[in-house]
Amino acid sequence: MKKGWFEKKVRELSSIGGYQKPELQTDSLKLDSNENYVISKQFQSDLFSGAKKNSDVREYPLGGTERLIQAISKFSKIPPSFIGVGNGSDQILDLILSNVANKKTKILTSNPTFGFFEERCKLYSIPMISLPFSNNMKLDIKDFLKQSKNADILYLDSPNNPTGFQFSKKDLQKLIKNFDGLVIIDEAYGEFSNYSLANMVKTQKNLVVVQTVSKSFGLAGLRLGYFFANKQFTEVFNKVLQYPYPLSTLTIESGILALEKPLQMKNAAKVIKKERTRIIENLKKYNTFEVFESQANFVLFDAHGSYSRVYTALSEQGISVRKLGKIGNHDGCLRVTIGTKEMNSRFLLAIRDLLL
Ligand SMILES: Cc1ncc(COP(=O)(O)O)c(C=O)c1O
Repeated sequence: MKKGWFEKKVRELSSIGGYQKPELQTDSLKLDSNENYVISKQFQSDLFSGAKKNSDVREYPLGGTERLIQAISKFSKIPPSFIGVGNGSDQILDLILSNVANKKTKILTSNPTFGFFEERCKLYSIPMISLPFSNNMKLDIKDFLKQSKNADILYLDSPNNPTGFQFSKKDLQKLIKNFDGLVIIDEAYGEFSNYSLANMVKTQKNLVVVQTVSKSFGLAGLRLGYFFANKQFTEVFNKVLQYPYPLSTLTIESGILALEKPLQMKNAAKVIKKERTRIIENLKKYNTFEVFESQANFVLFDAHGSYSRVYTALSEQGISVRKLGKIGNHDGCLRVTIGTKEMNSRFLLAIRDLLL
């Protein structure tokens, strides 16, 4: 190694930039991170008191992930041998990328795609073929079928963050069946959409479907993600790629309790879907906005010339939305998370006061 190599490496890494987290705002109405406030705080209090009873953190959580996998299996009706877990789905995506891809692996995805995934590809210098969304924020399946011949990995967040778009089930199945390499379908927002492809891993050996409790169960701070894939890959992931103890005892125990009681999650998803329609219909009333359909727990809209004015006015009223700016030909994109009915009404009232 040449002298000064470490300083050079640090400089090189610092130029990558990294994932842009939203600004930390205290006391704001947090509609910027696709979290789920429809799940009550009582739900997590119950989980934590139950988890505390089952935990002894003097010990490593030996056997813990195996019990968690059993709970995921019961919840998803997919056998345990097809399931792996991680410290958030972020970590699962990262472990897959860092171990199976390299500078010569071409990844086919959409533009935009999940920001963290894109940042990790940059970090590992993995080339990406990014297919843009159309003007009405849809992807063209024909573009993907055509480009799939040039790629080694296909990554799609389904529904997509930040657009909320999801291919029809049939189209996505066709794309996966026609793809030779590894397919990663990220279903972080799957519970808010109309379908999941998790079952397809039983027959499709090159498919990994990633899910999380962050959005659907309102447990983003727990950092618990999981995936479904064929047995051979899952075994390698669990035994070789994953850390021996990737999840804390409290995460494991809370996760098991949450998955055993999916009713509140399912009810919350229903409320969120209904509220999503209300937000879309309301925003569509303003000519200033172009609003896009969504299958996730957020809505993307282009505020055009009013972009900065809307964002600043909302911030001044303590309402935090995600400022995205330019996406394709749309210059003024903002993304708002669907909150509780009360939160959404406050957001819509703030918009009305500003624009009427
Ligand atoms: C598409 C997508 N995948 C994964 C994640 C991360 O999920 P987790 O909290 O499980 O790391 C997010 C979070 O915003 C996301 O938007």
